[in-house]
Amino acid sequence: MNRLKIAVVVGSNRRESINRRLAEALVKLGDAAFDVTWARIDDLPMYNADLAEPATVTRLRAEIASAHGVLVVTPEHNRSIPAVLKNAIDWVSKPADQNAWRGKPVVITGTSPGAIGTAVGQQHLRQILGVLGAVVMGGEAYVSFKPGLVEADGTVTDAGTRAFLQTYVDQFVALTTKLAA
Ligand SMILES: Cc1cc2nc3c(=O)[nH]c(=O)nc-3n(C[C@H](O)[C@H](O)[C@H](O)COP(=O)(O)O)c2cc1C
Repeated sequence: MNRLKIAVVVGSNRRESINRRLAEALVKLGDAAFDVTWARIDDLPMYNADLAEPATVTRLRAEIASAHGVLVVTPEHNRSIPAVLKNAIDWVSKPADQNAWRGKPVVITGTSPGAIGTAVGQQHLRQILGVLGAVVMGGEAYVSFKPGLVEADGTVTDAGTRAFLQTYVDQFVALTTKLAA
């Protein structure tokens, strides 16, 4: 099987995002199987159906459409997903005949310093992507972020967490490979 093309969407526009850090770790865990495009979402205007499609949206839609699968790593904001991520999902979903989420394998995870590590936000995300027809991988990965959990090169320092995330990534590779065939 050829290497998979995976688009990575980080649901944070913060420079020192811990979710970007976690995404880097997941990409490292998958580097034997896939190549990634980091899909930028922080430069999109707020969704407005009156606008002609901005070039930034055309770019994002193409990145999602051309990927075999999408990895979304997101913070939780007030027990839901951040507005910047919802805005990006909405843009890519419209017009309906160009909804790039339909049929797309997606794996979701996220991290926060809190005890339940984005569990509630991920439930919202799972529901939204399901409505849009994405094939959201089952299972769950809620990561409670501690300082030093992910090193600068993407290494997960805690062995148990690393093994758990490796299994999650491997499941996504298996699902995406099957659907890409
Ligand atoms: C507006 C706002 C709402 C937040 N709500 C939650 C929340 O519901 N649950 C949670 O675990 N953390 C919450 N946090 C804390 C974030 O988890 C924390 O800021 C984290 O670093 C965000 O991820 P990032 O570094 O990738 O941006 C919230 C932060 C902000 C700014």
